[in-house]
Amino acid sequence: MLLSSPLCITLFVALLTCIYGNYPEGKLRTRFVPFPDKTLCRVTPGLAKHQKDLCMKKPDVTKEAIFGIKMAYRECGQQFEGHRWNCTSLMSSTGNPYANAILRRGYKETAYINALASAGVVIAVSKACRQNDLLSCSCDAKLDSIDPKPNSNKKFKWKGCSDNLQFGMKFAKLFLDKRITGTDIFSHINLHNNHVGRLVVKNSVETVCKCHGVSGSCTMKACWTKAPSISKVGLELKKKYSQAIRIEQNNSGNGRKTNNKNKKNKKVKRRRFKEKHLIVKGRKKRELLNSLVFFETSPNFCDANPMLDFGGTAGRQCNLTASGPGNCSNLCCGRGYDKIVRKRNDAICKFVWCCNVTCVDNIIEEEVTVCK
Ligand SMILES: *[C@@H]1O[C@H](CO)[C@@H](O)[C@H](O)[C@H]1NC(C)=O
Ligand SMILES: *[C@@H]1O[C@H](CO)[C@@H](O)[C@H](O)[C@H]1NC(C)=O
Ligand SMILES: *[C@@H]1O[C@H](CO)[C@@H](O)[C@H](O)[C@H]1NC(C)=O
Ligand SMILES: *[C@@H]1O[C@H](CO)[C@@H](O)[C@H](O)[C@H]1NC(C)=O
Ligand SMILES: *[C@@H]1O[C@H](CO)[C@@H](O)[C@H](O)[C@H]1NC(C)=O
Repeated sequence: MLLSSPLCITLFVALLTCIYGNYPEGKLRTRFVPFPDKTLCRVTPGLAKHQKDLCMKKPDVTKEAIFGIKMAYRECGQQFEGHRWNCTSLMSSTGNPYANAILRRGYKETAYINALASAGVVIAVSKACRQNDLLSCSCDAKLDSIDPKPNSNKKFKWKGCSDNLQFGMKFAKLFLDKRITGTDIFSHINLHNNHVGRLVVKNSVETVCKCHGVSGSCTMKACWTKAPSISKVGLELKKKYSQAIRIEQNNSGNGRKTNNKNKKNKKVKRRRFKEKHLIVKGRKKRELLNSLVFFETSPNFCDANPMLDFGGTAGRQCNLTASGPGNCSNLCCGRGYDKIVRKRNDAICKFVWCCNVTCVDNIIEEEVTVCK
């Protein structure tokens, strides 16, 4: 049989599922853990030493963490679609997640990416703990039989596999926060924004329930918790991005190293230092703790700037009638636009039993507006 169509792959997966049984969310299952591959630790460029070490110790979890960063970068592109700055080239062609120059600045955009990447790691790792059977973690079964509403008369049981958020949070912190070693404003702000990303995940954890009982009577409900989708977090952080708080430079501390006697002490001091220097006049501390913060005014992102790995908006397709950021006056920065005819292949495809898909080209010519 020629395995060349999605249908065949579906059938193949269905067959495997029949053999091995299916594992719906929320069910405990036997673990089969393949031996993790460490290649990734050697081939991924841009990792700090501690990240490489962590990768050698836990290659399977690290793989998920890097996947989480990639997922966050993709989501960034969704959230900033049509914006002048649209997250392009965050993930470099070499696979280095830290190559983009924006990450070394103190912009609102930097805050957004850092928070989202941190959230992405939490989500990917905590999900993988449940789904993929990592060596270091499993699904979170601790919630078993804890009824969140003891006084409710409905029978309600926490059961089985929740996303392991606790492990995800811990790993994200270890993987990302430990990269930040300085005591300057840049480091404090990055640590803070990483934390905000994790917080948004924590605050949007979803509870999923399934009814059990005779013919849908729901005499028993099984529930488990699930990390939010990256798009939900992306949207929430986008709101925080538009309300991000600027930290004044002279609030920045002097980068002086604290003299630490032991590790634990260092941790405490570091946190205190961070909070002390993130105080902004007229803002409530609580508000600050939940906000993205930045310290550098963003450029207008109109012209290409290789120093920022930014390609400029010239040549971008804009929308004459849209009211959002993709409208021509905003996207083209007042330079105006050209009307051009673009060819697009809207191929018509047909499935031929079994197992080929045949397509017929269907070239459409359309007039589009692009920025000068
Ligand atoms: C910056 O520092 C100066 C001198 O210490 C102080 O007068 C000023 O209020 C500070 N600005 C802000 C925004 O905190
Ligand atoms: C994002 O912006 C870059 C640079 O302005 C542009 O080359 C790219 O086509 C844009 N991507 C999308 C999806 O619009
Ligand atoms: C332009 O924006 C309008 C209004 O939001 C939308 O209906 C239309 O589909 C957009 N056109 C293109 C080419 O994206
Ligand atoms: C174009 O988009 C910008 C940014 O979203 C917005 O402020 C402006 O009002 C829009 N312009 C028009 C004509 O819709
Ligand atoms: C699928 O397409 C290939 C190439 O066009 C052809 O050789 C093959 O016989 C087709 N298979 C089926 C099952 O139609």
